[in-house]
Amino acid sequence: MAAAGDGSRVVRHELPAPRWPTAAEAAASKLFSPVGLGPITATSRTWVPAMVPWRASDEGFVTDNVLDWYGCFAAGRPGVLVVEATGIRDIPSGPLLRVSHDRFLPGLRRLVETVRERSGGQTRLLLQIIDFLAIRRRPEKDKFFARFLNLTDQHRQQVATRFGAAAAADDASVRAQLAACDDDTLRDLLTPREFRDYAFGYREEVGDLHLPQIRELPKVLPGLFAAAAARAEAAGFDGVELHYAHAYTMASFLSATNHRDDGYGGSLPARQRLPLEVFAAVRERVGSGFCVGARFLGDEVIAGGSRIEHACAHGVAFAQAGFDFLSISKGGKFDDAKQPHVGEAAYPYTGPSGHECMPTVRSDERGPFGRNIPLAAAVRRAVRGAGCDTPVVAAGGICDFAQAEAILQAGDADVIAAARQSLADPDWWQKMRSGHGAEVRRCKFTNYCEGLDQKHKEVTCQLWDRDFAAADADAVPRSRDGKRRLLPPPWRSG
Ligand SMILES: Cc1cc2nc3c(=O)[nH]c(=O)nc-3n(C[C@H](O)[C@H](O)[C@H](O)COP(=O)(O)O)c2cc1C
Ligand code: SF4
Repeated sequence: MAAAGDGSRVVRHELPAPRWPTAAEAAASKLFSPVGLGPITATSRTWVPAMVPWRASDEGFVTDNVLDWYGCFAAGRPGVLVVEATGIRDIPSGPLLRVSHDRFLPGLRRLVETVRERSGGQTRLLLQIIDFLAIRRRPEKDKFFARFLNLTDQHRQQVATRFGAAAAADDASVRAQLAACDDDTLRDLLTPREFRDYAFGYREEVGDLHLPQIRELPKVLPGLFAAAAARAEAAGFDGVELHYAHAYTMASFLSATNHRDDGYGGSLPARQRLPLEVFAAVRERVGSGFCVGARFLGDEVIAGGSRIEHACAHGVAFAQAGFDFLSISKGGKFDDAKQPHVGEAAYPYTGPSGHECMPTVRSDERGPFGRNIPLAAAVRRAVRGAGCDTPVVAAGGICDFAQAEAILQAGDADVIAAARQSLADPDWWQKMRSGHGAEVRRCKFTNYCEGLDQKHKEVTCQLWDRDFAAADADAVPRSRDGKRRLLPPPWRSG
């Protein structure tokens, strides 16, 4: 994990001193007041945003482990619980949930029932639906040059010029010569894209119009998103969150780095076109009582990427199109990810933009707490300025009642999302609401959980193991490697 996102001096921050409400204060607070999200109403302005826990089956089905995970968040009774990024394509994608075929419906129905039951019907349940492009692991050097590199005349000529005619005698010699070069030489001999494929692993981009599957994305995606949303509705979800954030396909369409020349890239309206077409297709396919919102980036935090002024324009376009909520995130891109080890894939939360997405206590002067609120506030101002009252959801280092309430009272956001604090203590909303805030197990914001996500291991919180009383400990299911407890310690006062 990069330290301070912008490379400035690293400052280690303490957790802010918390201020917890009495039950009466919580009842009178804005945080625990209802909020309309288009056709649905959440009982409070509290929100657990999507977190991938790597607990689905290898075929993308809901498992008991998935039910346990969402059951424990539901027991904390947030106003809204968003289920992890769930794939809309019927392709193998490891232990990530999928909603790409009707065979996934029975499992998703069980998930809905579990959340209804564990939250006493108090939590609205959304499914985050995602499309992502192909990405491969970083190849072994020899294999890359022997098999994967598409050899061109440019390579042949460059090798001949630099190493002599014998080195370029035939393609096998050119490949062998390239494989023997160090990285500095390879930077000269390969195109930037070829070098990236070698050093980081191949990945598709929305600008790869020479690839038929990429060219056709605007034709294919509205239908895929609409079918996935219809399935979510059939399974009993209250709505969907269109994943337009981070390193994935739809965020790449919105990005200022999208230079497609087919009407779906370049200008701001052209970049917004597919996200709006996807929304229109979804809206047409689902009932009027079904909530459809989106998560997108307030700032991509990459060179040449979208900044807050673009995000404000996206927010206004989405609000005017009728999105039921706008959830603002930040960063989390492949573009600046760290080089993965050979055999591993690049992970979009390892570079400066990743740090901004899930900021830690090792930060810059500003620190991680409420770090991304100004982005949500700016989008909200722009949306209100355009005459729309679409609710805006803010996330990023929120971990305390006073902080959450102040954000709402200032009009910087309409809903407070907390991912890691909810993971550290899924009961924290209930503890605050009932005047038991002093019992909240506080997130350390050091990203042990994110490290597990990076390794595609079942996600837990480092505090869960620590806080289990010895007598309870054995009854709790363990991760596949037997090392981590997969459930948080129960809350006895609750
Ligand atoms: C383990 C883990 C998995 C995550 N998975 C997703 C995801 O599937 N979709 C998404 O939009 N954000 C995902 N996030 C980002 C969070 O939703 C949230 O935006 C981020 O952690 C910042 O909020 P926080 O400071 O409250 O944790 C994930 C975060 C963590 C820690
Ligand atoms: S593992 Fe660390 S950062 Fe993640 S939720 Fe737990 S305390 Fe917070």
